[in-house]
Parts: sequence; structure tokens; C-alpha cells
Amino acid sequence: MDALATVVFIFSYVFSLLRISTAVDTINVNQHIRDGETITSAGGTFQLGFFSPGDSKNRYLGIWYKKVAPQTVVWVANRESPLTDSSGVLKVTQQGTLVVVSGTNGILWNSNSSRSAQDPNAQLLESGNLVMRNGNDSDPENFLWQSFDYPCDTLLPGMKFGWNRVTGLDRYLSSWKSADDPSKGNFTYGIDLSGFPQPFLRNGLTVKFRAGPWNGVRFGGIPQLTNNSLFTFDYVSNEKEIYFIYYLVNSSVFVRRVLTPDGYSRRFTWTDKKNEWTLYSTAQRDDCDNYAICGVYGICKIDESPKCECMKGFRPKFQSNWDMADWSKGCVRSTPLDCQKGDGFVKYSGVKLPDTRNSWFDESMNLKECASLCLRNCSCTAYANSDIRGGGSGCLLWFDDLIDIRDFTQNGQEFYARMAASESEASSCINSSSKKKKKQVIVISISITGIVFLSLILILYVLKKRKKQLKKKGE
Ligand SMILES: *[C@@H]1O[C@H](CO)[C@@H](O)[C@H](O)[C@H]1NC(C)=O
Ligand SMILES: *[C@@H]1O[C@H](CO)[C@@H](O)[C@H](O)[C@H]1NC(C)=O
Ligand SMILES: *[C@@H]1O[C@H](CO)[C@@H](O)[C@H](O)[C@H]1NC(C)=O
Ligand SMILES: *[C@@H]1O[C@H](CO)[C@@H](O)[C@H](O)[C@H]1NC(C)=O
Ligand SMILES: *[C@@H]1O[C@H](CO)[C@@H](O)[C@H](O)[C@H]1NC(C)=O
Ligand SMILES: *[C@@H]1O[C@H](CO)[C@@H](O)[C@H](O)[C@H]1NC(C)=O
Ligand SMILES: *[C@@H]1O[C@H](CO)[C@@H](O)[C@H](O)[C@H]1NC(C)=O
Repeated sequence: MDALATVVFIFSYVFSLLRISTAVDTINVNQHIRDGETITSAGGTFQLGFFSPGDSKNRYLGIWYKKVAPQTVVWVANRESPLTDSSGVLKVTQQGTLVVVSGTNGILWNSNSSRSAQDPNAQLLESGNLVMRNGNDSDPENFLWQSFDYPCDTLLPGMKFGWNRVTGLDRYLSSWKSADDPSKGNFTYGIDLSGFPQPFLRNGLTVKFRAGPWNGVRFGGIPQLTNNSLFTFDYVSNEKEIYFIYYLVNSSVFVRRVLTPDGYSRRFTWTDKKNEWTLYSTAQRDDCDNYAICGVYGICKIDESPKCECMKGFRPKFQSNWDMADWSKGCVRSTPLDCQKGDGFVKYSGVKLPDTRNSWFDESMNLKECASLCLRNCSCTAYANSDIRGGGSGCLLWFDDLIDIRDFTQNGQEFYARMAASESEASSCINSSSKKKKKQVIVISISITGIVFLSLILILYVLKKRKKQLKKKGE
């Protein structure tokens, strides 16, 4: 009996050793990863090791899809400090930081975690997240550090795109310089917190694309963003955090979002059958997504020629530029506002809301309260619901020239632009009131007809009865 137990014990011990050695996803203080060695996440989706991108000879520590060829890198540690030889080593220090050490140059990169550590280890999770934990920690989610907090050009499912408001950590994407060079390129894509928050894709400091504020369902400037068979998504905004996140529907069908070196936010899906990444969508769909292409108070309509139009009651600021297809200077009011005499509003539907950097919002107000608040504040230029769910709620006020508005054929939103009383009466207000009047006229005429008809029947009936009575009397 004892002998059998011993044999079973030895077998299971050897077996567990074998299992560990075939699927290592963790390294601790005493282990290193040298150039040429890798670790693989438990389910075999991601691999971590040293690589050379494209035609480059430089060596970088990165994470890529294990099953995808050609190699698709999703994260790079030492993107700004490459190794020029294969002497690189990844180590976990006693203090709980990850370091990439070169044989000749010492520490090239470190993960900067500041919390104190005890027997720390680093693990490559099946999500593609490289995490550092305290060895004595029982909470598996309590990371000293995680690569998901320091995105490069790729947003993987489960990564937060946005801010930790408490620590000020901003998780944004930054493009590679080129396919051969993972160092920071010109483009960034992240959530801007001024006014009502919205993601901006920038080239240096210049805004190239604005995804629009979250409207309860999606970012308003990306009408194509809907739950689908590949991924679902969510947005979290509270005092502690504000971020966008997406999840795979089927974890074996890969989806990744990448900010390309030429500044496009694209989503790809891996197609096993074709062995290639298929472009699923691009955030910027057409010319109207070039930030502020029509200038202030201009609306971009992609199917029109020219595609820029001034809003109702506005005209081009510089007609000759406008005629030459330079719309960048935008439009000016035909009739100036007169806050004292009283202004009105013109409604726009099916559009991307103007830039909300200089806006104010209150998520508990309704549209009526919002309108009166805007009307009472002479510097308010427009208002809208901040959330479109359930018929609309919340209040968003603009205090600046309205800019970067475009037309959408579907999933557009509504806002109300402040106009001089004469202008607003000349358009929406009169139309709605004249419609109302028309309705009243119809209702009144129908009732009059009805009353006349009924009276006629009554009179005929009375007359007939009288005739009968007269006849009876005659008999
Ligand atoms: C670590 O911190 C230093 C100084 O605070 C900073 O310059 C460096 O960029 C940080 N490195 C990373 C990987 O965050
Ligand atoms: C683990 O060790 C660290 C560093 O000594 C310490 O700060 C932390 O409180 C410990 N955690 C637990 C759960 O014991
Ligand atoms: C990035 O910016 C630099 C300097 O402004 C410029 O020379 C280069 O062409 C830009 N690259 C791209 C891809 O826009
Ligand atoms: C999309 O799916 C997520 C997760 O199932 C859900 O929380 C969210 O409400 C859905 N969004 C829409 C617009 O249906
Ligand atoms: C997930 O995708 C894989 C590969 O396409 C497929 O074999 C599997 O049936 C899918 N699972 C579900 C639950 O749809
Ligand atoms: C109008 O709104 C702005 C921005 O919120 C504010 O600074 C200003 O005090 C308001 N003016 C009035 C008269 O309420
Ligand atoms: C209001 O009605 C006039 C004439 O019927 C029309 O030209 C104008 O486009 C309408 N305005 C709106 C906002 O519907």
C-alpha cells in the first residue's frame, strides 16, 4: 500500500514538473528571460520575449500573439531604448520592478513600480497583460504593476482606455514611428478631460480626429460603434475612473485596435482561414472626420459638393477662401445675437455634436431646464442632452464657437444652437408653431363638420316625427 502511494506521488510530482516546464507564464526573482527565451500565457495566446520589428536589427522586449504569423506585437517595453545586440535580459528585481538589462549598457528600461514588494513575480496573463505581484499577496488582482497601464499602439480586449482620476494615470495609445521602429511616433489617441470628456486623436499637439463625447451608448462621433458578434464594449465614468473598454464575445476570435504609424485608429480581426488580419473598422471614416474641416459654425456633409456648409443663419467668413474650398476659417452670424432682447434656438438633428472642450454638463437635468439655463446665460452658444438613452437626459451647454460638426446618415444626435430671435423665428420656431396651428385648424373644422352633421340628422328626425304626429292627428 505504502509503495503504491509513493509511486503515485512520484508520478504526479514528475507530471507536475513537466507541466510547469512546458507552459511557463511566470518568472520570479531568481529567473531571467534571455534573448531567445520566451514565456507563454496559460492558454497559449500570447508570448513574451525579445524580437526585432520589420527590417530592424534592434532588439526589443515585447508581447505578441503566439499563434499569429507574421509576428504581431501588441506591447513593447523598451520602445525608446532598443538593444543593438542579443545580450538583453529581463529580470524581476527584489523591489518588484521589471528591468531590461543589456550586457554592455546596464539597465535600459524599468517598470517603475514604487510599492514595496516581497518575493515578487511577474506573470503573462492570457489577456496579454504582463503583471507584477507580491509573492505574499492573496488577491490575484492586486498588481504592483501591469503592462495594460502603459499601452503602446494597441488596445487589447480588457484594457482600459482612459484615466485613473485618483492617481492621474492616463492610458492612451501612441503610434509606432514606423513598422520597423516601435518608438513613439507622431500620433496619440486618448481621452481629453476638458469640458465634457471626449477622445482625441492628435498629431503632435494638433487634433486630427475627435471621437465625440460618450452619449450613453457610444462615442457620438463613431456611429459605427455598436455591439456585434465579435466584441462588446462599455464606458465607465465616476469620481475614480473614466475609461472605455471592450471584450471579446468568443475569446478564440482575436480582435485588436491599433493606432497606425500614419495616424488611423483601426480595428482588426484575425481570420484563421485566410491566416491574416482583416480590417474590421476605422474610427475615421471619411474627410468629414478631419477635425474642424469646415471651421467654426460649418457643417460637413460628405455626400454634398462642396462638403462644407454654413449653419442656418451663418455665412462664410471669407467668401473667396470658401469658394476655393478652403473652409478652415468657418462661418459668421448673419444677424448678431442680442441677449438682452432675447434670443432663440435652432435645432439640428442627425449630427455629430460640436467639440465639447469648452462645455459644461449636468447629468441630472432635463432638456427643458437645459434650454432655460442656456437662454439665461448670454455666453451659452448651444445646448443638448448629454445622454441619448430613453428619449434623452442630462444637460450639455457650450460656451464657445461651435466647431467640428458633421452630418451622419444614422446614429446622429441633436443639439440646439443659439440664434438671434429673428433668425430662430425664421426657421424652426415658426415651423413648429405653424404646424401646431394647422393641426388646430384641422381639429376645429372636423368638429364643426361633425356638429353640423349631427344637427341635420336631429332636425330631420324631429321633422319626420312631427309629420307622423300630424298624420295621426289627421286620421
Ligand atoms: C519611470 O520614472 C521616470 C522618472 O519618474 C520617468 O522618466 C520614466 O519615463 C518612467 N518610466 C516608465 C517606464 O514609466
Ligand atoms: C506583502 O509584503 C509587502 C512588503 O513587505 C507588504 O507591504 C504587504 O503588506 C504584504 N502583504 C500581505 C498581504 O501580507
Ligand atoms: C511626424 O512629424 C515630423 C515632424 O513634425 C514630420 O517630419 C513627419 O513627416 C511626421 N510623420 C508623419 C507620419 O506624419
Ligand atoms: C453592449 O454589451 C455590453 C455587455 O454585454 C452591455 O453592458 C452594453 O449595455 C451593450 N451596449 C449596447 C448599446 O447595447
Ligand atoms: C469560438 O470560435 C472558435 C473558432 O472560430 C469556434 O471553433 C468556437 O466554436 C467558437 N465558440 C463559440 C462559443 O462560439
Ligand atoms: C455663464 O456660464 C459661465 C460658464 O459656466 C459662467 O462662468 C458664468 O458665470 C455664467 N454667467 C451667468 C450670468 O450665469
Ligand atoms: C420652415 O419652413 C420654411 C417654409 O415652409 C422652410 O423653408 C424651412 O426650411 C423650414 N425650416 C425648418 C427648420 O424646418
